[in-house]
Amino acid sequence: QWGLSTNWLGSRVIFEKTTDSTQVIAHHLGREGAQHGTVVVADEQVKGRGRLNRTWYSKKGDGIWMSLILRPEVEPQQAPQLTLLSAVAIVEALEEITDLAFYIKWPNDIYVHDHKIAGILTEMQAEQDQINYIVQGIGLNVNQNREDFNMISDNEPTSLKIETGMAWNRRPLIQVILQQIERLYERYLKEGFLPIKTMWEERAYRLGQPIMVSSKNQNWQGIFKGIDQDGALIVTDQKGRDHVLYSAEINWRSG
Ligand code: BTN
Repeated sequence: QWGLSTNWLGSRVIFEKTTDSTQVIAHHLGREGAQHGTVVVADEQVKGRGRLNRTWYSKKGDGIWMSLILRPEVEPQQAPQLTLLSAVAIVEALEEITDLAFYIKWPNDIYVHDHKIAGILTEMQAEQDQINYIVQGIGLNVNQNREDFNMISDNEPTSLKIETGMAWNRRPLIQVILQQIERLYERYLKEGFLPIKTMWEERAYRLGQPIMVSSKNQNWQGIFKGIDQDGALIVTDQKGRDHVLYSAEINWRSG
């Protein structure tokens, strides 16, 4: 077994050598009533999914591809908070094991040296205003070399190996990540979202800086002020008014 030294997160780990996507397996298990904290890990995904229907490259042995099944007793609209929580936890885990500084690009991409190293895909199953379960997919690039990313044109991803110059064992990495998520999750249950929100903002990419917003067919420049209680983005326009953005496409480059 995996023998992870965590309390409840990963107390059951399902490992697949090859699968379409750990998200699919986790949804299946979630529907069947799998317990809170169940984790699905794969060596390789053939149909790894990213946000906005993107493909997530998940070749054999190159990264951490895992999905967590969570059954939090919170309102469905609070589910995005758990994505931000995990983003902070992943940053803390990576900073615990390396000397590098990692940061979070809203809503949930982990960056190092201006390149994406990890992403989170949270999917929720809710009925009658109640969360049945959440599947939180985490993809972390670990042992890829630069050439492995040649076919990906959009955002030049990076890996832990590229950044640190050495290969990493995935099991201990999974353990620190799950430990950090567990720790923050317990804090969240006791103290609410506020401490997590502060931690998130401390690690936010371009906080306080200009960004381009394209929402409702309009492009405008604003200042990235922070996030609100639900984890939505707050951008101040040139007249000093705050706008709350949930799924707007933010253009980080031309800001
Ligand atoms: C993103 O940044 O777009 C989110 C990427 C999420 C990738 C992970 S890998 C494990 C899980 N299974 C998937 O198919 N996707 C998520």
